[in-house]
Amino acid sequence: MEPAGLKQTDLHPALGEPELDSVRFLNEIMKRYPEAISFAPGAPHTAHLDDLDIGALLDTFRAHLREQRGLGPAAADRLLLEYGPSRGVINDLVAGALRLDHGIDVPDDAVVVTVGAQEAMVLVLRALFASAGDLLAVVNPCYVGMTGAARLLDIPLVPVDEADPPGTADGNGGDGMPDLDRLERACRDARASGRRIRALYVAPDFSNPSGVRLDLATRHRLLRLADQEDFFLLEDMAYGFTADPADELPTLKSMDEHGRVVCIGTFAKICLPGARVGFVVADQPVRGADGTTRPLADHLAALKGMVTVNTSPICQAVIGGMLLAAGGSMAAIGRERAATYRRNLALLLRALDEHVAPALGPEPPVTWNRPAGGFFVRCRLPVRADTALLDTCAAEHGVLWTPMSAFHVGPGGDREIRLSCSYLDPDEIGEGAARLAGFFRTLAAPDRAAPPG
Ligand SMILES: Cc1ncc(COP(=O)(O)O)c(C=O)c1O
Repeated sequence: MEPAGLKQTDLHPALGEPELDSVRFLNEIMKRYPEAISFAPGAPHTAHLDDLDIGALLDTFRAHLREQRGLGPAAADRLLLEYGPSRGVINDLVAGALRLDHGIDVPDDAVVVTVGAQEAMVLVLRALFASAGDLLAVVNPCYVGMTGAARLLDIPLVPVDEADPPGTADGNGGDGMPDLDRLERACRDARASGRRIRALYVAPDFSNPSGVRLDLATRHRLLRLADQEDFFLLEDMAYGFTADPADELPTLKSMDEHGRVVCIGTFAKICLPGARVGFVVADQPVRGADGTTRPLADHLAALKGMVTVNTSPICQAVIGGMLLAAGGSMAAIGRERAATYRRNLALLLRALDEHVAPALGPEPPVTWNRPAGGFFVRCRLPVRADTALLDTCAAEHGVLWTPMSAFHVGPGGDREIRLSCSYLDPDEIGEGAARLAGFFRTLAAPDRAAPPG
């Protein structure tokens, strides 16, 4: 019998969306051009993985189970080897680290340990978005993990555009901050049409893909707006650890007086992505039909039982071991790593200044922003930056980047690229920028100038 055929149109429409294809596409093109220098992956540098002693980390966590939690050796082993609680087994360590590093003071049971930040996004969206009229606002351009999850769950998206940061501006002189007037209007428009903005997703510290960081006034205004318009803030903390220690800003969650912020974190960038460990902090009280109150985290843990059952206790133990070895502080783990990323970012910006700027002349057709942290630089081109151009660039110039359009909700970003500096060594960054300069020069040449698009 013929195998049953399916049309893509028979599948969930999200499967046709660019967010869901972007990772596959980048992996494929990196495989096709193995010699290319790739500014594409937002992965942590592998140097931080080389000296990990997984066995020793597991032993550290086992010792903690015995000494601090009073488990015997057999019970400690079983905790790692059996199914575990959906909520997690390192919640106390995560809550402790958040208290120590960020002044986020929540009980252990407000934390759910998830399979990466990605699962946390899915759980939070599923729990909070209860009706078809609930809309998710996102700072635009936006991390595809969040927009992709929303599309999978049939949650409509409302983009809140970032203003053009200085340096990339097409003349509007913005400051990179999201347009909160637009968000306020969107809340009112939604209400007028019988719907509501249920939450705004935002990564306040060095967003992916733009590298934008919210200033303190914008953080305050967001919290006020969330109160005024009655929505939640879904704060993504992924890149906060890369901030210069002399220039840290408080997280939204640490400023949250009225339970407006659900915060999502990952150990992927700061520890290791292969562990697939993240977390969500959801201390909002939820009153049940019987009048009893439980934290939102309880409901997320129940949902998690139906998604991944529990996060691998072995993987949690590795992360737990790292936290314990660092005195219970994520920031302490991140300190040395963050220095690598700040160095790489400074090198990339300097290399762009040295190689690219002189190649482009006094009115450069290519511009870029200057983030103060994170992994990414956002770059404007004079032509459409699509996958065909990426293919040409890889074949002719041996350098890869990420087209920005997949990060945009709605039209936009089609003349922008994202450059990531996290995965490269200093010499590769210099050589890669020189190759980019060669590529950008061809874009500036009059015979290459593409029609607006
Ligand atoms: C903004 C943002 N959040 C979260 C993550 C990481 O998620 P996970 O823990 O699922 O790897 C990434 C990774 O690229 C990211 O850029």
